[in-house]
Amino acid sequence: MSELSSPVRIAMIGVGGIGNMHLTNLLRMPSAEVVGLADIDANKIAVTLRRAAAYQNPSIEPPAIPAFNDVDRMLNAVSPDAVVLALPPFAHGEVEFQCVEAGLPMLVQKPVGLDMETVRAIEQKILDRGLITAVGYQARYSHAADIARSMLADRPIGMAVGAYLGGLPQTSWWRVQARSGGQVVEQATHVVDLQRYLVGEIETVQAVAATRLMTDVENLDVADVSVASLVFDTGAIGTLLNSSGLNGVPQEPWDHGLTLVARDLSFRVWTDGGRIATAGETRELVNPEDCKYLLDEAFVKAVATGDSSHIRSTYSDAVLTLRATLAINESARTGELVRVADLG
Ligand SMILES: NC(=O)c1ccc[n+]([C@@H]2O[C@H](COP(=O)([O-])OP(=O)(O)OC[C@H]3O[C@@H](n4cnc5c(N)ncnc54)[C@H](O)[C@@H]3O)[C@@H](O)[C@H]2O)c1
Repeated sequence: MSELSSPVRIAMIGVGGIGNMHLTNLLRMPSAEVVGLADIDANKIAVTLRRAAAYQNPSIEPPAIPAFNDVDRMLNAVSPDAVVLALPPFAHGEVEFQCVEAGLPMLVQKPVGLDMETVRAIEQKILDRGLITAVGYQARYSHAADIARSMLADRPIGMAVGAYLGGLPQTSWWRVQARSGGQVVEQATHVVDLQRYLVGEIETVQAVAATRLMTDVENLDVADVSVASLVFDTGAIGTLLNSSGLNGVPQEPWDHGLTLVARDLSFRVWTDGGRIATAGETRELVNPEDCKYLLDEAFVKAVATGDSSHIRSTYSDAVLTLRATLAINESARTGELVRVADLG
């Protein structure tokens, strides 16, 4: 681990779309230094470096960060203090085992995997080694989420209405169920995670899903519409509405995020902020800081100090979000009510 005064030396594994965001954040964070980039696609590394550098200053050259197409070689060559894993859902497993073996704190992008057996095995090794972890559920760092937690601490939440209504992501793996897990596991996982963070554990789910809108898209086998009803351990109930069929359609505030319904109070929470509405007043909330930056900063600070108490989503916690989303998939597949804990 680094001395407090020297930057945390971070290596990144997977530098595609969201890897670019992490790199951009880390390059402007004085407490971090990016010491290595690994991706099986060398072109991705070059493109991401150019984009991240241009974000800082369009006239500067990309930083000279050592690049690798092999994770093991990178870890041996640069001996980082910590790693950021921004891999597609299907690529989780071996890389995490390598990083745990090397004793490295990990920031892992969501979803942490696609099957409970693998993620539970990784989780156990993380716990055995006592490693610091963080997972890319940035909505937990939303200022609106902070206010919701304190305002609703003593007020029963009756219902948690979640939605993720958007377009089809361009990455080719996204539209293949076996590679992405589908929209609930890959995208709406942010909403389910926020439901767990603000309401409680999800005990049972009942879902329906269909492919109705994107049937002309080649190689697509994921559902493009789905609805789930949820029952929480608190007794609250909830919904989750999804679609990936709204390409290029202007977004409404209720298309993404979570609305909590309490007595005479509705509270919308998302990554950009939220909205509190009562009979007498409506208050719009705008997050003063970018949640994704706060997430990266929390991880770097935890590695620098050894104190991870401000990390809001750990690997173990994210495993429970994965489990709830897999339960929704299972219910949609079987048509049965699914008890989330039964998935392991
Ligand atoms: N938190 C968020 O808001 C957010 C936003 C976007 C994506 N994500 C998540 O981030 C993950 C990645 O998404 P993306 O859009 O960046 O995907 P992407 O396909 O653009 O990038 C993934 C990169 O990983 C590389 N890769 C694949 N297997 C590898 C391996 N074994 N070793 C090294 N590199 C490997 C690929 O070559 C690619 O460059 C997904 O799980 C996604 O859900 C999170």
